[in-house]
Formats: sequence, structure tokens, C-alpha cells
Amino acid sequence: MNRREFLITTSAAALAPGIALASTSVELVAQPVSAQILPDGEPATPMLGFNGSTPGPVLRIRQGDIFDVRFLNQIDEGSAVHWHGLRIANAMDGVPGMTQEVVEANAEFYYRFHAPDAGTFWYHSHNRSWEQVAKGLYGPLIVDEATPPDVDHDLIVMIDDWRMTDHGTLAEGFENMHDQAHQGRLGNFARALVEPNVPVRLGDRVRLRLINVATDRVFPVDLEGADGKIVALDGMPVTDPLVPSGLILAPAQRADIIADVTSSDQVSVVFPTRDGPYLLGEIPVAGENTERRPSEISTLPPNKTARPDLNDPINLTLTMEGGAMSARMMQGMIGGDIWAFNDQSGLTNTPFHSFRRGQTARIQLVNDTRFPHGIHLHGHHFYEVENDGHLGALRDTTLVDAGETRDIICVFDNPGKWLLHCHMLGHQAAGMKTWVAVT
Ligand code: C2O
Ligand code: CU
Repeated sequence: MNRREFLITTSAAALAPGIALASTSVELVAQPVSAQILPDGEPATPMLGFNGSTPGPVLRIRQGDIFDVRFLNQIDEGSAVHWHGLRIANAMDGVPGMTQEVVEANAEFYYRFHAPDAGTFWYHSHNRSWEQVAKGLYGPLIVDEATPPDVDHDLIVMIDDWRMTDHGTLAEGFENMHDQAHQGRLGNFARALVEPNVPVRLGDRVRLRLINVATDRVFPVDLEGADGKIVALDGMPVTDPLVPSGLILAPAQRADIIADVTSSDQVSVVFPTRDGPYLLGEIPVAGENTERRPSEISTLPPNKTARPDLNDPINLTLTMEGGAMSARMMQGMIGGDIWAFNDQSGLTNTPFHSFRRGQTARIQLVNDTRFPHGIHLHGHHFYEVENDGHLGALRDTTLVDAGETRDIICVFDNPGKWLLHCHMLGHQAAGMKTWVAVT
């Protein structure tokens, strides 16, 4: 079977002109796979994937459509699928022990939801995620705008790193305490996988959907051979497209870039390091597009989000604590959790806060640790508050550097129980998670 082949059927029933009710059905099978992580010619790596490959298939639907997923678990432990960044009904959020039972080996689960927002999202296992995601249980989830922007190519760029042994297998030790107490499980081999893998032309306008799918590594990313703007972050269009220099993607973060190809050789996705640029991936350039006329890169249509009530928000503080070189580390040494929010590790019966549906909160995220953390809220997007006090980007994951404080503003308008955790999955494994209730 073709590596990228997957079962997908789309049925669209036109009710009346302009009103189409479409649903897309997919079967998603988690199973052991073999993947060519190392360069061609080197050994393939036993991993986990969906429908025969890691990353899993590109799932793609139109904004507002219904998505039907039959999930079959054919790995030898429990799993579940989380639709990262999608503001969907709580029961479909894929969090074992909170929104559903774990899907045991050889069992199945039906997910069915509307995709409210157009943009770049992804799906991944949310059971023992620090291990299952590291082993490859993830894939891209694209929700198309009713009228997509005018580009010649729409490419997905998944950036990952792996910790490989000399024999081309994944290194063991997914719960290594030293990793968890520091930056998490960092790989010794990193790559950007471009999907579809097709050449572009000089002068083409391309949309690049960057997704950091690594469990723990923060990727600074530069583009060479293309000139453009960031038009969306974490699936949400930005109001003023930004020049992508200095782009940093925490685990789970996404950036959509629309850019014009300026090289006749290749477009490179580059990880700038102190020792110079590390080439993560490249898109070959062949031929020239002579028809496209130069034009401004325009904004994407905004998704519908609730307006925050800035006059009277609920004020809360979430302090990140623990890790190497902290007092809490001693608890880790005797088997406790290494990381905490507000002196609380892991999930308890008490949420971080209980919101009434529609309430606006301003949450001060205080990083009182020696490491950066990428804080992710399920079921919602929130505004990052800029240093000058203005509302910044709408995101589902925000990177807070060691010692830094960042405020976020969120309208809690999606009822249910939602996780709030560090998306450095090794930190999440070691206690850096809590939840909120919206009723
Ligand atoms: Cu990307 Cu709790 O998830
Ligand atoms: Cu963290």
C-alpha cells in the first residue's frame, strides 16, 4: 500500500444554493509502522503511526463541515486522539480520564465534530503522549477556508526531532528523569518533512503550514529562498501579517507563512544555531512561474471568536514551578512529581478555576523555573498580551521563557473540562498539568 494512501470519502449534499452540508469520514488506525527517519540507505526505524505511516495521513476538511473519525487502536496499549487547537465539543477532545475512557488495545472509538475554525491544526495521541507522540502517533489536520488564499502550492511542514540509537532505533528511556527535569526529551536528529513533497517554481506563491510536532524541542525557524509573511499562528489568522524573521515554534505551535519563491534552486527550512544554520528540510525549485504578478500578501479571513470583556476580567495567576535546580526537585528524587503549577502537581478533583460560560479571564503566567514552557489550553484560543498591554496573537499554546511572565486573556466559552498543561510532553508527564471547568 502506498505510504500516503488512506481511506477517505467525502459526501456533500447540497440542500440549497449556497448551503452545503458536508461530512467527511475517515478511518484512523493506530498501529506499529516502520519509518525512514534516518537518511535513505540507513536502517528504517520501528515506530508507531496511523494508517501505515508516521506522520499519519493529512486530514483535511472544510470549515464548518462535520468530521467523522472511526479510530481503531491496534497498538498494544491504550490510546486516544486529541485534535490539537480545534475548539470542539468537550466529549470529542480525546483526553483519557477526563473526556473519555482510554481506547484499549484492539478497541475503537468514534469521534464526530464540527470544525469551527479554518487553519492549521494537528492530531496526536493524548495517552502517555510523551512516549506515543515521540514514537510517531501524530499527523496534520487542515481546515480549509471557504475561499482559500490565492497560492500556487499549499504545503505542510512538520518539524520533529528524534533520539536515535546507532542502530537506527528510537532510544529507550521515555520517562528519563534527567530529561524530564530539564528541557524534556531532545532528539539528536531533526528534520522538517514537507507534504506533499513536490517541486515549486521560482516566482510561485506558496503557503507553508509549519507545525512543531516535537515532544519537547523549541525550534527557531528561518526560511531561505522565499520571501513572505506570517499570516496565521496556531491556526488563527493574524491581523497584521508579520515578517517571519525570528520565528520560534514551541512544541505544538504552528505558523502559516505565505511567501514568494525567490530562489531558482531550493527553499530551505533552517534551524539557526550558534554553529550556523542546520538544514531541517528543503523544497526543490524547478522552472519559473512567469504569469504571477507581484501583489501584497493579504490577511486571511478571521475565524469567529468571542470578544473578551476587558473591563472586568477574572484575574488569576498560574505559576510554573519545579525542575532541575529547584527545591521541588528533591520530591522528584523520592518518586514525586518534578513540576507543578501553583504548588500542585498533576490532576486532582479540583480545577485550577471554574468559569461560568462566557467569562473573560486574565491569567498571569509566571515562569518561576530555569526552563522555557509551552503552555497549552484545550478547547479555546487565548490572546497573548503584548508588553505594551495590547492584545497580541490568538493562540492555543504560548511559550514562556525561563524567568518570564506573560499575561493571557481568554473567553472561556466552551463548556466542559479542559486540560491546561505544558506541551513539553516530558514536563506534562512529570506533573505540569491542571484543568479548568467551564459550566
Ligand atoms: Cu496537543 Cu493536551 O495537547
Ligand atoms: Cu514545561
